[in-house]
Amino acid sequence: MNNIKVGIEKISLYVPKSYIDVAKLAETRGVDPNKWTIGIGQIKMSLIDKYQDIVTMGANAASQILSDIDKEEIAQVIFATESGFDYSKASSTYIHELLSINKYAKSYEIKQACYSTTAALQIASDHVRLRPQEKILIISSDIAKYGPNTGGEVTQGAGAIAILISSQPKILEITDQSSSITVNAYDFWRPSYSEVPMVDGKYSTQIYIDIFKDLINRFDEKYKDLDQVDAFLFHLPFAKMGKKALIGYKTELEEDNRDLTNVDRWLEKYEPTTILCRQIGNLYTGSLYLSLISYLAYGQVQPGQKLGLFSYGSGSVAEIFTAIVGQDFQDNIDIKFIEDMLDKRDEVSPMTYDQTYFDNMYTEKKDASNLTPENFTGYYLEKVEEDKRTYGFKK
Ligand code: HMG
Repeated sequence: MNNIKVGIEKISLYVPKSYIDVAKLAETRGVDPNKWTIGIGQIKMSLIDKYQDIVTMGANAASQILSDIDKEEIAQVIFATESGFDYSKASSTYIHELLSINKYAKSYEIKQACYSTTAALQIASDHVRLRPQEKILIISSDIAKYGPNTGGEVTQGAGAIAILISSQPKILEITDQSSSITVNAYDFWRPSYSEVPMVDGKYSTQIYIDIFKDLINRFDEKYKDLDQVDAFLFHLPFAKMGKKALIGYKTELEEDNRDLTNVDRWLEKYEPTTILCRQIGNLYTGSLYLSLISYLAYGQVQPGQKLGLFSYGSGSVAEIFTAIVGQDFQDNIDIKFIEDMLDKRDEVSPMTYDQTYFDNMYTEKKDASNLTPENFTGYYLEKVEEDKRTYGFKK
């Protein structure tokens, strides 16, 4: 192992301009709003507009952070998603062109439900450990959808996270500690003919908890330094999910008469990790990194603190790894920009959502013309003609 530090130099978030109020949607569905706002923990759910797709959300996230020098130094553009609209051509090929990344960077797409951004992060970190002068751009972009009147409806969302991995981990240094697991499970899956996933909701929450318990015990046996982990961050399909996993682990520790100090500390530090998730919803593969931004912005964080991260992707693959908060993390998380973006969103009524917005979540778009939005700045989907997408940019 060389001693080159690698990790997150830059990170950014993009959410579309529309959202729905979860309590209002609950009333429309005949559900007690407290079930969704307290029981599940969600307040607003991000909705994708018809002139956006995973590419434009990714480009709008990455364009906030990339300098001209970064674009020359990037060796790979990795697109992590489970909302791809093409089984062959990678979404990163569009990003590569839209953001003018140097011609000799390679671009590809990876998938394993909500786990894929972590796979990309580890691939990127290993690449930079070997080639410290190069950078890797990871785009994590998804449209989380279950459909109207489904059990999962309250856990939808849309948005993108862009991450620049380099040997200047100003925000987060990725350590070489990691434990991962694969369990062939049908908790959540999406056959290629279907626009929405099949989901066994209760089983999915149980297997998430069981896999967390399995992995944390394995990690503990392997490294024996959980007392060094200041806070734990989770893939959050909804705000309460990580807490359920921590409580499941605590119950096991109590049954075995084991020490509760670490888990109690992580429970105490849990709430700030959920603040952005409550306002946005599930970003699928970006969700763990949304929790990271949330914690760095709202938690009691100091440079040098060690974080544990639990990445879970249905199907199922999961990983626990650790990271060290960088010296310059505060200067590199623009929470004011994020709060402005969230405040400036337009509310969509449950009726408009039912009539039009759900269709926008479909990744398959046949021919579409004149999608150019008014009063919008950034990258947008202009048209789809003969199954080819054309993108535009408005200043
Ligand atoms: P549900 O079955 O309708 O909800 O949907 P519930 O009955 O489990 O209730 C939820 C909570 O609300 C419970 O609290 C209730 O007690 C409480 P808990 O026991 O969990 O602490 N509650 C109330 N609280 C206050 N006032 C009330 C009230 N009524 C009830 N009046 C479910 C929940 C998560 C199953 C559903 O939303 C769903 O299927 N979601 C989609 C699947 C999902 O998110 N699974 C999570 C783990 S899998 C994962 O994370 C991977 C994923 O991101 C996909 C990927 O990897 O690509 C999904």
